[in-house]
Amino acid sequence: MRVMPYERTMIRVASPSASLDVQSSKSSQPSGGLYFFLGAIVILLILLILLFVFRKFINPSKWKTFFACTRKQPVAKDILSRNLHTISWFDFQTLKKATKNFHQDNLLGRGGFGPVFLGKLEDERLVAVKKLSVDKSQQRESEFLAEVRIITSIQHKNLVRLLGCCSDGDQRLLVYEYLKNRSLDLIVYGKSDLFLNWSARFQIILGIARGLQYLHEDSHMRIIHRDIKASNILLDDKFQPRIGDFGLARFFPEDQAYLSTNFAGTLGYTAPEYAIRGELSEKADIYSFGVLVLEIISCRKNTNLTLPSEMQYLPEYAWKLYKHSRLNDLIDPRIREDGIVEKEVMHAIHVAFFCLHPQASSRPAMSEIVAMLTCKVEIVQTPSRPIFLERKGKKDEKISWDSISEALPSPLKSDSPSYQHSK
Ligand SMILES: Nc1ncnc2c1ncn2[C@@H]1O[C@H](COP(=O)(O)OP(=O)(O)OP(=O)(O)O)[C@@H](O)[C@H]1O
Ligand SMILES: [Mg+2]
Repeated sequence: MRVMPYERTMIRVASPSASLDVQSSKSSQPSGGLYFFLGAIVILLILLILLFVFRKFINPSKWKTFFACTRKQPVAKDILSRNLHTISWFDFQTLKKATKNFHQDNLLGRGGFGPVFLGKLEDERLVAVKKLSVDKSQQRESEFLAEVRIITSIQHKNLVRLLGCCSDGDQRLLVYEYLKNRSLDLIVYGKSDLFLNWSARFQIILGIARGLQYLHEDSHMRIIHRDIKASNILLDDKFQPRIGDFGLARFFPEDQAYLSTNFAGTLGYTAPEYAIRGELSEKADIYSFGVLVLEIISCRKNTNLTLPSEMQYLPEYAWKLYKHSRLNDLIDPRIREDGIVEKEVMHAIHVAFFCLHPQASSRPAMSEIVAMLTCKVEIVQTPSRPIFLERKGKKDEKISWDSISEALPSPLKSDSPSYQHSK
């Protein structure tokens, strides 16, 4: 029978001579604790030798970054705990390298929050790095991270994906997936040679509507974008739209749920109740969406002061054309040439008019807009006049509605390559 160690001790304790044996054997053999102590010293010595040998390869600034990151990680982890699976924590050096030290050649654009750079990560992934020019006194670390948490906790195919963030000293950076076809303003405002046919434009309109429906109604929190406009709509390689900068509006100080003391938005897209009284609700986004739909259909900017006065503000011009049964003139002539289903375009313009209703409460919800666009509900209402200032232009400035379409510069004059939307 095999005797267990404790059994052996029990037997020996029973006899005084055996007890002496135990003591003598203990003093002649080193204890386990001593082995452990010696082992630790040997490992420490090896580490010191390695440190001495490789000291010239160790960059003190990298150590500083490393320690800074490890200090911040617990804060970030704490705040982002629910979403760690969706977000990466980038260190500043990685993003500096990816964007070639934020080189001008990599500059994609510059917005209200700072410049955006194209970056290539070590795993070859292309990213758009937004360098926020945030004043530390206004934007505290926890607020920045809380914001990132909101953005990463929502995902939809029509929203730009935030891949990660970086918070290092005063630097705040957001890392987004890079979208190959950049932003819609480049196409709509003619900064690019690309031409999108009606089918592609309709897919873009519908995609934006679905993204907004998710933000307003379907995500676990109610999110108002506040800055829906062509430059915040990004297009992937198949020209599917993704709304960018959602939630970023919350970076503004004194963010409030309804009455907003700080205006955040872009002139020309802003709902009247929000611009004048600071009343903020989803309906402000819906108004901006209405303006954007008109821009996509007509391929022009919402405000263009170089045009005759009646044509300068797009919703006003669209309404006047509607009243004169001339809505056809609003449509980008290139999509007319391409052979559009006129009924579909008119339908989309009508939906835009509903979004531009002067009273916020009378504008449809985003889910209703999606249903209208996909013809799941029939439109029975007639649109109301959008809000705009009546002009008392000088007599000689007045132009006849017969000649008005000739005054609009025709995009047909440019030889643009055409893009056929692949379904
Ligand atoms: N994820 C991205 N992929 C590709 N290009 C991007 C991406 N994000 C931004 N851009 C480009 O960078 C430009 C600047 O973007 P940014 O959002 O900072 O400014 P903006 O949209 O013009 O103004 P705002 O600050 O009001 O949103 C965009 O117009 C777009 O062309
Ligand atoms: Mg933007």
